[in-house]
Amino acid sequence: MAIKPVLKMGEPLLLEVARKVDRFNTPELDGLIQDMQDTMAALDGAGLAAPQIGVSLQVAIFGFEENQRYPDADEVPFTILINPKLTPLAEDMEDGWEGCLSVPGMRGVVPRYSQLRYQGFDQHGNTIDRKVDGFHARVVQHECDHLQGILYPMRMTDFQTFGFTDVLFPG
Ligand code: NI
Repeated sequence: MAIKPVLKMGEPLLLEVARKVDRFNTPELDGLIQDMQDTMAALDGAGLAAPQIGVSLQVAIFGFEENQRYPDADEVPFTILINPKLTPLAEDMEDGWEGCLSVPGMRGVVPRYSQLRYQGFDQHGNTIDRKVDGFHARVVQHECDHLQGILYPMRMTDFQTFGFTDVLFPG
């Protein structure tokens, strides 16, 4: 078990396009995923991407039953998603609040596709193929953006909604 430091916005590695995983069931990949799970759990995150702990590989994890950071969000099944491909299923975008462990203490409203299909692999190389909407779709887009070097403020369109969590949501 290892809780890793999470890189913060401003770190160049967070802006890189991550490499695809080409071998599954290796000790390196298993160790990376374990570190990501430990780190996400320790920080009560809704998701985490490998670049956030300094590894530029296309691996993301997300999911929760209940999350203190997002108390109103619907449950999202815990998922390990590798080499993802996203396909929007409708053109409409939905605004919603987001935060990020790499942008600590802040929140902003981000437009995201409301429905999408995501495909990829789990840690054993098994195929994942799901159609989702709502907060599940939002989390997937946020985490997959990390693998393309994109942080949520780069997706914002209304910076008047960008601020510190304790000021935006007092009490
Ligand atoms: Ni994030």
